[in-house]
This record gives sequence, structure tokens and C-alpha cells, in this order.
Amino acid sequence: MYDLYTGIGSIALYVASQCRQVVGIEEISAAVEDARINAERNGIRNARFYAGDVKQILTPEFALEHGRPDVLITDPPRAGMHPEVVRILLELSAPRVVYVSCNPATQARDLNLLQEKYDVLKVRPVDMFPHTHHIENVALLQLRDL
Ligand SMILES: C[S@@+](CC[C@H](N)C(=O)[O-])C[C@H]1O[C@@H](n2cnc3c(N)ncnc32)[C@H](O)[C@@H]1O
Repeated sequence: MYDLYTGIGSIALYVASQCRQVVGIEEISAAVEDARINAERNGIRNARFYAGDVKQILTPEFALEHGRPDVLITDPPRAGMHPEVVRILLELSAPRVVYVSCNPATQARDLNLLQEKYDVLKVRPVDMFPHTHHIENVALLQLRDL
């Protein structure tokens, strides 16, 4: 399982017990250090974290080294994913993608690009920011039989 934009590894570490290996990528190196400490404190040994821009870390060589993920979770900032990252995801072709977003507008833009290979199976808005117009939105995507 890959967890892009992992922050301090909250999602990666939460699902780690159900995975052979989890791989988190986050650009803030202090957050990556915290993710590693969180893994150690929770006795999680199958999580690896990498510091850097997803666009630069998630290369074909990286995918070869870590394997094609069964599930890829992505939780980008409000700007959404860089078009180059969307292209890499299309090449990687993980069977399932979970796209967590705090900005449905950029998420819709990215889902529109991902629909080249993916169907959106489920969408679940979550009111994480009550009394504001903001909403967290989670989408489950499945790779289409091509
Ligand atoms: C919405 S938060 C996700 C937090 C995390 N998934 C969690 O549940 O705590 C987005 C994260 O992406 C990181 N980030 C922003 N741009 C990035 C980039 N280009 N490459 C890697 N990480 C990035 C931010 O530092 C932030 O931690």
C-alpha cells in the first residue's frame, strides 16, 4: 500500500496491520521523522517513509523497488495533485485508489484525469469542518478492465 502525502503517517500506520508493506511519501522531513517515531512507538515494522516531493520520489524506479501497490491512498493538499503525479498514478495502475481530499474542486479535476483508467465506485463527504463551507471528501476508485 502506498500512502502519498502521508504527513506523520496517520493513514499508513492505521492500515499497516492489514498490509504486507506500507510506503509513505511526504515532503516535510520533520513529519517523516515523526512518522518513523510513530511507527516505532506502535511496534509497526512494515512501514517505510520517504521525504520529498511525490512528483520526484514516485518514479518508475521507485515503483520497481517497492512493487506495484494493491491500494494507493492519496491525501494531497488543497491544490490537489500535480498533473505529473496524476500521470505517474495512471502509469502505476494500482488496482484501487483512495483519494482523500479537503478540496472537492481540485479532487474533481484530478478524478477527471484519472477516469482515463479508473471508475469512481464510491464517494463519501465527511463534515470535518463544521460551520464552514469546507468539506473532506473521500473517493474510492477502481482500475477499469482495459
Ligand atoms: C492533507 S495533508 C495529508 C496528511 C496525512 N495524510 C494525514 O492524514 O495526517 C497533505 C500533506 O501533503 C504534504 N505535501 C504537500 N505537498 C507535497 C508534495 N508535493 N509532495 C509530498 N508531500 C506534500 C503536506 O506537507 C501535508 O503533510
